[in-house]
Amino acid sequence: QPSATFFDEIGGHATFSRIVHRFYEVVAQDPVLRPLYPEEDLGPAEQRMLMFLEQYWGGPRTYSERRGHPRLRMRHSPFTIGQRERDAWLAAMAQAVDAEHLSPEAHERLWSYLVMAADSLVNTHG
Ligand code: HEM
Repeated sequence: QPSATFFDEIGGHATFSRIVHRFYEVVAQDPVLRPLYPEEDLGPAEQRMLMFLEQYWGGPRTYSERRGHPRLRMRHSPFTIGQRERDAWLAAMAQAVDAEHLSPEAHERLWSYLVMAADSLVNTHG
């Protein structure tokens, strides 16, 4: 079906929720990432990330209904994100994404986006 979205192609909500849940399991144990998250409960952050990624890839538009325009760069400005944080974030996401065993094409599409997005959110250099 040519009009199927990437969201549907890789398995919809079930797939995205597994990826995001695994990502936050890694974050919870990560000495670089965990201190950045302001709330003790990572559940709400997990929900925001899930809504965002589902919307980005053509799924439900719940993120924008609840949060408005994503403005990711602005929303990350309270956090110091240097190379170290970027690398830790991508390492956590790699664990989460690799566990899905997506097709090589789907994996490449998702992964290249995540690397580009993480690079774009680095806000501290040196
Ligand atoms: C929020 C860290 C990259 C998407 C957050 C929060 C932190 C954080 C500490 C606040 C948690 C919360 O309460 O929601 C980082 C770090 C990154 C990174 C260290 C490393 C580069 C990314 C990337 C994406 C992303 C690449 C998207 C592909 C989001 C979203 C939120 C969020 C959607 C919630 C925004 C909202 O308030 O609606 N991030 N992030 N982040 N991040 Fe990141």
